[in-house]
Amino acid sequence: MKKDLLHVAIIMDGNGRWATSQGLKRTDGHKEGGKTLEKLALHAKKLGIKYLSVYAFSTDNFKRSEEEVNYLMDLLIYYFNHKLKKVCEEGIKVVFSGRKENLRKDVLEAMQSIIESTKNNNECVLNICLNYGGQEEIVDASLKIYEDLKQGKLKKEELNRETFAKYLYQDLPPIDLLIRTGKEKRLSNFMLYQMSYAEIFFSDIYFPAFDEKAFDEAIAFFYNRDRRFGNVKNNN
Ligand code: IPE
Ligand code: IPE
Ligand code: MG
Repeated sequence: MKKDLLHVAIIMDGNGRWATSQGLKRTDGHKEGGKTLEKLALHAKKLGIKYLSVYAFSTDNFKRSEEEVNYLMDLLIYYFNHKLKKVCEEGIKVVFSGRKENLRKDVLEAMQSIIESTKNNNECVLNICLNYGGQEEIVDASLKIYEDLKQGKLKKEELNRETFAKYLYQDLPPIDLLIRTGKEKRLSNFMLYQMSYAEIFFSDIYFPAFDEKAFDEAIAFFYNRDRRFGNVKNNN
């Protein structure tokens, strides 16, 4: 992979609608979505993508029924302890972004377990956003910055967009390519700070059906973009 595509992020949307379209329960869609994530994580690694961020559960997803939330949490535990752990043996390091508060103890334990078992992997990083909100992340970073300013660990003059980014949940490069599956064209409070110059690929395909070929199309879309970062083309 050329080095200008360092960080890909995915809003894995459309599990419920995929299931309904197949005459299945919404929760079956989440199960299928888990399998898709396994495939895509391996595929991204093979393509040489160093950072993959995925939106697994938003802070606002707690508004859903208790049954659906519990199903998702149980599924995540299963993935962290088994399926994903296996996939990560290929050299993928797992990190998490999001708030710990409101997460069940068994979910936190499974998260810790996969962090531990993959911490020395250095092929690429899989950043799983769980109980995650982009605005919440900016608020949480601001509170940490306030503390450091108060304690003199950070000087006001040192604060800029790069130093601010160090206070986010994970120290990751900016997002180069954002993929949202499942027809909707919105950001739904995902990685707002990191997304400032991301190229955005919206796909009508529901996440469970989003395969390696669809991922490759998103990558091809990225390489067809002319990124200017506020500059003008061919400015020397
Ligand atoms: C994305 O699929 C997975 C999560 C939000 C956890 P959805 O569950 O949002 O599926 P749709 O959008 O209702 O089809
Ligand atoms: C975003 O999808 C969250 C995840 C994919 C985990 P949602 O389905 O929650 O977003 P909205 O409600 O359509 O904006
Ligand atoms: Mg959705």
